[in-house]
Amino acid sequence: MNTFLYPSHLGDLKKALEEAAEIKNDRYKYQSLGKNKTCLLIFFNNSLRTRLSTQKAAMNLGMNVIVLDINQGAWKLETERGVVMDGDKSEHLLEAIPVMSSYCDIIGVRTFARFESREADYSESIINQFIKYSGKPVFSMESATVHPLQAFADLITIEEYKKTVRPKVVMTWAPHPKALPQAVPNSFAQWMLAADVDFVYTCPEGYELDPQFVGDLQPEYDQRKALEGADFVYAKNWSCPGVTRPADYGKVLSKDMDWMVDSAHMALTNNAYFMHCLPVRRNMIVSDDVIEAPTSLVIPEAANREISATVVIKRMLESL
Ligand code: CP
Repeated sequence: MNTFLYPSHLGDLKKALEEAAEIKNDRYKYQSLGKNKTCLLIFFNNSLRTRLSTQKAAMNLGMNVIVLDINQGAWKLETERGVVMDGDKSEHLLEAIPVMSSYCDIIGVRTFARFESREADYSESIINQFIKYSGKPVFSMESATVHPLQAFADLITIEEYKKTVRPKVVMTWAPHPKALPQAVPNSFAQWMLAADVDFVYTCPEGYELDPQFVGDLQPEYDQRKALEGADFVYAKNWSCPGVTRPADYGKVLSKDMDWMVDSAHMALTNNAYFMHCLPVRRNMIVSDDVIEAPTSLVIPEAANREISATVVIKRMLESL
């Protein structure tokens, strides 16, 4: 496996879940695979879980790990070709990528949507330059439109906790004070639609996800109706994807607090588990009592980030 952005890159998801279970049972089983190999993790944005879990995953596989925070200690990078570099950016990505790749065997990249243009974000221009110019396997640690390591960890968690063969999984939009990317909901929807679950998503009008990730699936605009009978409730905020009105891309269209997941919402479900990728703003996205309940899976989900990353890096090491 040379690239990891979408569930299709893993192939058969059932097999990938079996591999995840095998690794969870013995996370050091493949420690000789990464001997004398180096994993470079490049962060254009802040991170807690991705930074720690991906380092741990590479170490599980016996790799050396280098972590680079582009905005702290490296030269500021220009990412667009053709720009006259007379501003504060001292180095171009087109030189930086081959230099960085010369020091490593596998590259992970974290780069958020910039909300400057929908076209630029949805073309995944930054991570695609790494894929094109590094000559190394590249995986997304959340890029402009996707967060596949998170979605895979979420799927592993659902597999571990599900009580029926085909559980009902409901992703609900929830309010947030700032404009957030669509990477997590895009990937969660894409992975759930590829998995053996009954997937529904609910959001206010204007927040419809891009068909690239949801196909023909339309949202249920009535949140309470969507939550009825849910086995898993996955809360997440996202800004306007600009599908119906491209001019609204990246805007906050609603801060309606009725969408916050509280115990009244959870009472509509089939005693559902609560999920969120973290970090989460309490009492905006979810009430204290719901996130602290025994049915909250936010910590197991975060812990499974180590497992999803171990499977992905292992697959990349095997194809070197
Ligand atoms: N869920 C997630 O990716 O968390 P971080 O932003 O802290 O890495």
